[in-house]
Amino acid sequence: MVTDKGKTKEQLINELAACRQRVAELEAKEGERKQAKEREKQLQEELYLSSRLASIGELATGVAHELNNPLTGIVGFSQRLLRKSTDKTVSRDLERIHNEAQRAVKVVQNLLAFARRHELKKGYADINEILGRTLELRAYELRTSNIELAVELAPGLPKIMADFGQIQEVFLNIILNAEQALTEADHGGKLSVRTRKIRDYIEVCFTDDGPGIPAEHLGKVFDPFFTTRGEKGGTGLGLSVCHGILREHGGRIYIESKPGKGATFIVELPAVTEEIDGSKVID
Ligand SMILES: Nc1ncnc2c1ncn2[C@@H]1O[C@H](COP(=O)(O)OP(=O)(O)OP(=O)(O)O)[C@@H](O)[C@H]1O
Ligand SMILES: [Mg+2]
Repeated sequence: MVTDKGKTKEQLINELAACRQRVAELEAKEGERKQAKEREKQLQEELYLSSRLASIGELATGVAHELNNPLTGIVGFSQRLLRKSTDKTVSRDLERIHNEAQRAVKVVQNLLAFARRHELKKGYADINEILGRTLELRAYELRTSNIELAVELAPGLPKIMADFGQIQEVFLNIILNAEQALTEADHGGKLSVRTRKIRDYIEVCFTDDGPGIPAEHLGKVFDPFFTTRGEKGGTGLGLSVCHGILREHGGRIYIESKPGKGATFIVELPAVTEEIDGSKVID
């Protein structure tokens, strides 16, 4: 049969198929372009955040070092006076000074931890084990706060080269934040923790179904002293410390969150693929 413009039906079908293929190809390219654009934006944000945090870190280290000595003095001398004091009221006041000074020491230590790591004791570590042990620490509180815990640990993950205690601190800070966000939202809730290997790194995701983080806060939560929990005793150092520790491990942390839809904290750490002597550990 001959149709308009003198083309046969077969020719038109072939032309249509070719055209559809071209459309599909262009759509795939458009998808790729969008992905690359998104990655570009993400990298730009990371670069901005890390250079901003580096300069805040420098300032923080200076302040922390300056505060360290006078605080050590206050802690030491208040303790000495406390031992000598026989007056109850004076002792109570001295105890207060001592405790407050110790609280300040903790803040200074956290600041130093964020800005420059204490000496790291790195060794081969199993990320699932660190996570398991950290979750054990909070299991009781999670249960009593009515928070359901869902854990999905990928078996046979490669090891990481890490300071066990420091990575445990990272996980603990993230879990505590989720716990606090869920408890404050006052509806129990769920915390899901998942590990998996992606290319040459290991990803750990912590997802809670709490209130989430407003878009205007997303760029600030890693800043030292940014907190929305000031009156509840938050110092705003938890996530800054996480950022510092992960940077020292060649890893990173980022957030996916929509207000009202919970928050996901994603931690990435490089997987160890070779032993020092060059023999393979895991492919
Ligand atoms: N899972 C979460 N859901 C909602 N908001 C969160 C979550 N985790 C962190 N945030 C927000 O990020 C802010 C900064 O967290 P960060 O851990 O640094 O400090 P903090 O928890 O406020 O205080 P600190 O950890 O020193 O006790 C929090 O105050 C909160 O507003
Ligand atoms: Mg915190």
